[in-house]
Amino acid sequence: MTGSPPNVVAPRGFDRRREKLLPVQHWPTAEEARAGKWFTPLQLGPLTAATRTWVPAMVPWRATDDGLVTPEVIAWYERFARGRPGVLVVEATGIRDVPSGPLLRAGDDRFIEGLSKLVQAVKRASDGETKLFIQLIDFLSIKRRPTKDAFLTRFLRIDDALKTRLRSLTPNPLPEGEGELRSLLLSLDDEALSKALSPRDFEAMRFGLRERVTDTHLPHIAELPQKLPSLFAAASERCVRAGFDGIELHFAHAYTMASFLSALNTRTDGFGGPRENRVKVPLDVFRAVRNVVPKHLAVGCRFLADEIIEGGNRSTDAAWFGVEFAKAGMDFLSLSRGGKFEDAKQPKIGAAAYPYTGPSGHECMPTTRMPQPWNRNVAAVAEIKRAVLNAGLSTPVVVCGGIATWQQAEEILRTNEADAVASARQSLADPDWFLKLRLGRGQEIRRCLFTSYCEGLDQSHEVVTCQLWDRAKGFPDDATAARTEDGRRYLAPVWS
Ligand SMILES: Cc1cc2nc3c(=O)[nH]c(=O)nc-3n(C[C@H](O)[C@H](O)[C@H](O)COP(=O)(O)O)c2cc1C
Ligand code: SF4
Repeated sequence: MTGSPPNVVAPRGFDRRREKLLPVQHWPTAEEARAGKWFTPLQLGPLTAATRTWVPAMVPWRATDDGLVTPEVIAWYERFARGRPGVLVVEATGIRDVPSGPLLRAGDDRFIEGLSKLVQAVKRASDGETKLFIQLIDFLSIKRRPTKDAFLTRFLRIDDALKTRLRSLTPNPLPEGEGELRSLLLSLDDEALSKALSPRDFEAMRFGLRERVTDTHLPHIAELPQKLPSLFAAASERCVRAGFDGIELHFAHAYTMASFLSALNTRTDGFGGPRENRVKVPLDVFRAVRNVVPKHLAVGCRFLADEIIEGGNRSTDAAWFGVEFAKAGMDFLSLSRGGKFEDAKQPKIGAAAYPYTGPSGHECMPTTRMPQPWNRNVAAVAEIKRAVLNAGLSTPVVVCGGIATWQQAEEILRTNEADAVASARQSLADPDWFLKLRLGRGQEIRRCLFTSYCEGLDQSHEVVTCQLWDRAKGFPDDATAARTEDGRRYLAPVWS
């Protein structure tokens, strides 16, 4: 970490955005930082994290299209490790060996070598101080939004139910041939189509076809409860071989495991309906993973303190799940918020829906467009923490979302609302920020502007960078700094 940079060219609008940041009257001195709680050790089951600082999972879209670790992936994590967070969580990594774009994978032994290089780089960069976890994810298929024409002429299945609905809409007899029926559908406006098509087909036309855990008529969905535990366990075992200190099971946001937990999971095979049923697959997954992960390594999960969507889980459900996970022996409970498909914006034609574009997405990654983006998850997480404590358990709880100052973190820890405080975008904006705080150099921190710049890159699956790095100019190592392929953005902060 060096001193202040010689110059940062602030683009237009930066000052206005900075004005919206949570004011900081006083950054802690090194003594104050030492006397606080954030930089005290935390027991995570068998592991001791050196501090309660945490960088949660963030996908940077830097893997190869085959899901392999690249030098850019290693550089990304190495850079965070130099700031010495207590825990650094590697991005959502697929448990299956299926094409999923530049998202890391752990679905085959060939991924171990790259992951192990990543682990070694992080250990070196943090002098062994940072505990490195990897987030393991499963997701269901989602198709891009088709044109109305393509959907109605090619993808839509014509069945009797559709014909019955069409008959009720028109006084004329329906044409016999499928081609004529499709032409008739094409002539309807969206309002008529909303009545003619089933709700799922209408949604598939407007958003793209999205599988759900409730699609039990599909054999591969019906058998998820039997398949997922061994898939997660096999991927975890590979990550153990790669040298990770722990596994974070991704039970949050819009993906398979969160969908099992969701109150919208109405499966009737014993894995949906009441909470007791919805928690079964996640617990089976945890037990299978715990079985293959040696006792000296940690296993926990990230799940939602509130799904935010209509009919979804609220914090009371999350508190119940938290107690079940703690009772089962998880080593940590990391909480996120929202990030669902159900309220996502309609994507453009040719694009897939993105679960962070609606109200639940804004709760997941709050921005200064909201009147109050700070601490949005704290009250719900505190409720989960209290429920775990009341059940006589001490499983550590991690809070995240709109937390980017020392004062916020200390207040949360002092009042026992959580045991660790995670910062995603502030750590991206300045990967040295934890170190700067520890050294009493808080005034040198590049503060995250809490816009949607990095999230927008994530949405379009572009290499994620921070606008604070991208707009910086005039640094000594400017000319040699690694850039994105188009040469327009820096792959890491240039002031380091
Ligand atoms: C670019 C980007 C990628 C993210 N990828 C993941 C991910 O892979 N897994 C996950 O659980 N959360 C992911 N998140 C959400 C963050 O971990 C975090 O919960 C969210 O940004 C709110 O925290 P913050 O206000 O400190 O940024 C991502 C966030 C960003 C900005
Ligand atoms: S790009 Fe992301 S990390 Fe950087 S300042 Fe904007 S919101 Fe913060």
